[in-house]
Amino acid sequence: MIQNYHNLSFSPTLSIDRRVKELQSQGLSVLNLGIGEPDRAPHLKLQEALSNALSLNESAHYTPVQGILKLRQAISDWILREYGVSYDLSDLIITPGCKMAIVLAVMSAVSSRDRVLINAPYWTSYPEIVKLSGASVGKIYNQKNKYELPMAEDIKEAITPETGLIILNSPNNPTGQFYSTTQLKDIAACLRKFPHVKIITDDLYHPIAWDDKVPTLLQIAPDLKDRICLVHGLSKSHRITGWRIGFAAGPKNWIEMMSLIQSQMLTCAATPVQIAAITAYEPSDGIWEEDLKNDINTYKRRYEQLKSALEIIDGYKIYNSGAAFYLFADITQVLERLGYKDDNSYVHALLEEAHIACVPGSAFGMPRHIRFALTLADNLFEEAITRLIHFHRMPS
Ligand SMILES: Cc1ncc(COP(=O)(O)O)c(C=O)c1O
Repeated sequence: MIQNYHNLSFSPTLSIDRRVKELQSQGLSVLNLGIGEPDRAPHLKLQEALSNALSLNESAHYTPVQGILKLRQAISDWILREYGVSYDLSDLIITPGCKMAIVLAVMSAVSSRDRVLINAPYWTSYPEIVKLSGASVGKIYNQKNKYELPMAEDIKEAITPETGLIILNSPNNPTGQFYSTTQLKDIAACLRKFPHVKIITDDLYHPIAWDDKVPTLLQIAPDLKDRICLVHGLSKSHRITGWRIGFAAGPKNWIEMMSLIQSQMLTCAATPVQIAAITAYEPSDGIWEEDLKNDINTYKRRYEQLKSALEIIDGYKIYNSGAAFYLFADITQVLERLGYKDDNSYVHALLEEAHIACVPGSAFGMPRHIRFALTLADNLFEEAITRLIHFHRMPS
């Protein structure tokens, strides 16, 4: 197991964030478009739920490893409302963040003989989490159109007898793109042909769909339920990245294995946060929907603002987005024009010279690309745009 740690990389988004905090502590004004963390405070109702939870005696104690029953019941009801699929409470596990749900799901599903497929561009932690499990990583790219997520034919080509697991992430970080119903039907048809492949669907950004609701694999293909581990959480939709709460829902034996690992590594997610989270999953007269709509309108506006500014910079090719809070762009021509070796050196220059943090595309399996998070307060966001434009006007 030790050897699995040797080639593990520190999360690039977190290491950029570390540098941002270092520069900020030196009194510099660094504008952070790197880490994907909503800027507004959590809804007052959630804050109150957490302070009320803290005053309860049970808050100071462990919960069952899989999480408190009332929260699992609320989540099970929520999944039924959102996805039309029902889960027994024993088929759910509450975890400290969606990331931990993914770690546990991967560790429980594969061994060192397996290959795990991930769709590129991918969330930076997937390959590292797979490395931790000892399995090998296979990255799937869209062969026909690199500006889109990999399609069923790309997935079909990538699957081999060694493939133990595939991780699907729609809406996707870093692009904000998602699969349509037709594309998911094709993917489901493809996966039905390979019953040896387990599936993780990371639906963390599913609530942050900018226009209509986004379809999900579980809704489109409920017959695959016995092979799917759905991972989700409140970090992004409810602006509580620091509270560390997420969940997984899946087949009994998969969840049981995850519970076993959680029992030895973590015991349970923090009790007060579990109690407070119940309110986020209960029907709420549209409170959460309205709150999220506000965020979505802001993210959409910032996407358009940043897109318009970047389009002025010669060579930026911006990806379409329809969910989450990122803008992803191909900067191949910008790098060539300005003489940067790669996306890392360009991002380094933006941070050290213009004090703007963003994430190089290499971190998502897409060298010569860049990701900006749209989660900076409006006045700072506008300042970041001004600095970006100024940076590109300066003689290089
Ligand atoms: C696609 C994706 N999945 C999972 C996570 C982890 O979420 P959490 O903060 O709930 O652990 C992130 C965080 O950025 C993410 O982008």
